[in-house]
Amino acid sequence: MNYPVWDVPIVGSAWVIGAIASFHVLVSHFAIGGGFYLPIAERKALREGRADWLEVIKGHSRFFMVLTAAFGTVTGVGIWFAIGLGSSEGTSTLIHNFVFGWAIEYCFFLVEVTAAMVYYYTWGRVSDRMHLAIGWIYAGSAWMSLVVINGILTFMLTPGAGWLGVAGTGAEASQFWHAIINPTYFPSLALRTLICVSLAGIWAFITASRIDGASQPQLKTDVMRWTSKWLIPSFVLLPLCFAWYLYNVPAENRGLLELGIKTIGQGVFTQVTRAAVVTVMTSATICVIVYLLAWRTPLGFNFGHACALLLLAMAATASTEYAREMLRKPYVVNQHMYSNGTRKSQVDAFNREGYLTRSVWVRPEERALWQGGDSADPKVQAAHMARGELMFRGQCMACHTVDGYRSMRTLLQTRDRLAIGNILTMLHENKDDSPYKKFMPPLTGLPEEITALGDYLNQLVHGAGSKETPPPPQAAPVPPSK
Ligand code: HEC
Repeated sequence: MNYPVWDVPIVGSAWVIGAIASFHVLVSHFAIGGGFYLPIAERKALREGRADWLEVIKGHSRFFMVLTAAFGTVTGVGIWFAIGLGSSEGTSTLIHNFVFGWAIEYCFFLVEVTAAMVYYYTWGRVSDRMHLAIGWIYAGSAWMSLVVINGILTFMLTPGAGWLGVAGTGAEASQFWHAIINPTYFPSLALRTLICVSLAGIWAFITASRIDGASQPQLKTDVMRWTSKWLIPSFVLLPLCFAWYLYNVPAENRGLLELGIKTIGQGVFTQVTRAAVVTVMTSATICVIVYLLAWRTPLGFNFGHACALLLLAMAATASTEYAREMLRKPYVVNQHMYSNGTRKSQVDAFNREGYLTRSVWVRPEERALWQGGDSADPKVQAAHMARGELMFRGQCMACHTVDGYRSMRTLLQTRDRLAIGNILTMLHENKDDSPYKKFMPPLTGLPEEITALGDYLNQLVHGAGSKETPPPPQAAPVPPSK
């Protein structure tokens, strides 16, 4: 426990990260896809001498600049804020490995944002050729930022044998390229690029839907139809790329998805599968709406329809990112670090020496009370409960809350102290046949720490003074702290 725990009541820190990330993905992927949409549309309009269409593109580039430069940037910083607090140990690992990667990404991002502004402000002020070139500079730098960040995102699921071989030795950075160009790097880059292209189309409907179909029927029909075509590459290639991606995901992670698909008939599907089903259904609905409304009856397509499409796209991106995150559970860096920040390599030491033994978040006077004393003394009892709470915060709160998302009170409602103890034993032993092994990290710590956690959870669920709460253990030997 090198970092304090961020306690977000009801929703939990994971959902804060998820909510900001979903919005950021929607905007940042649009920023990349839109980077291609703008110069390609501009070139087409220039070649065909369509001044009316150029006006539409100019309006779109303004909306685009405001959205990506303002919301994209703010949500990007928001992600750093949320992951730094919610998953500090994981963020620290990523920074130590990829600080250079992020610096490169930041440079591309600077060029990207600058080019977006220059593109908008130079409409009609520079030659057409020059303006198009600025558009392409924008598109190239935006895509390059994905090329870098995609390596860091995929690393978390498939860090690769090269990096795992040196993990924890201090020589991790020597495997920088192995870590970036990891087994899921290329399929994920292809998938994300396709998503960027479709999102460019979906956001462009917002602008296109506002063209007045009564006064400019030809323009609206042309823009709507041309924009619809931006969804075709995904329609054709997304399933293929997704299969390519899954093929490269380690079998044990894919297992969670396959298990869910096999049991869909019985109604028992895993969360990964549920999320994947949402992705498939929303994507299919988007395709149907685009075909029926945008392509077949472009003049009737209004702003409300465009917003509905955008909401569906948001649901699709959020569920896709959620499924991707769940695939990796219980790890934050697969096979290296669990979601609660414990490294796989630390488990034995925590079990031997205690999880809280080296924690800097324990007051010395509290620690002294753990060493034993009169178990009837309220101070000793309070310290015992505080010890259990620290265990909960450090090891469980990354995924659970007390009362809200994956609520402990709800999950443990029907269990008495003995049953809670049994679950904790299963989590602690983490045997291969444990039903929890697939999605929860092993519970680490000394027996008396685990007892304290059990007592704390029992009190949480059944209230203080519950008869089943045993007194704290007498004078349990705790290794000296240092
Ligand atoms: C990596 C995330 C993660 C961590 C860390 C985690 N859990 Fe869980 N836990 C889950 C998930 C996912 C479920 C399934 C939730 C559901 O079915 O709604 C779950 C379910 C549970 C359940 C219900 C099990 C059942 O059979 O009904 C209990 C109890 C539980 N967790 C306790 C804990 C405790 C105690 C800790 C800390 C020592 C912990 N969890 C840490 C992800 C996690």
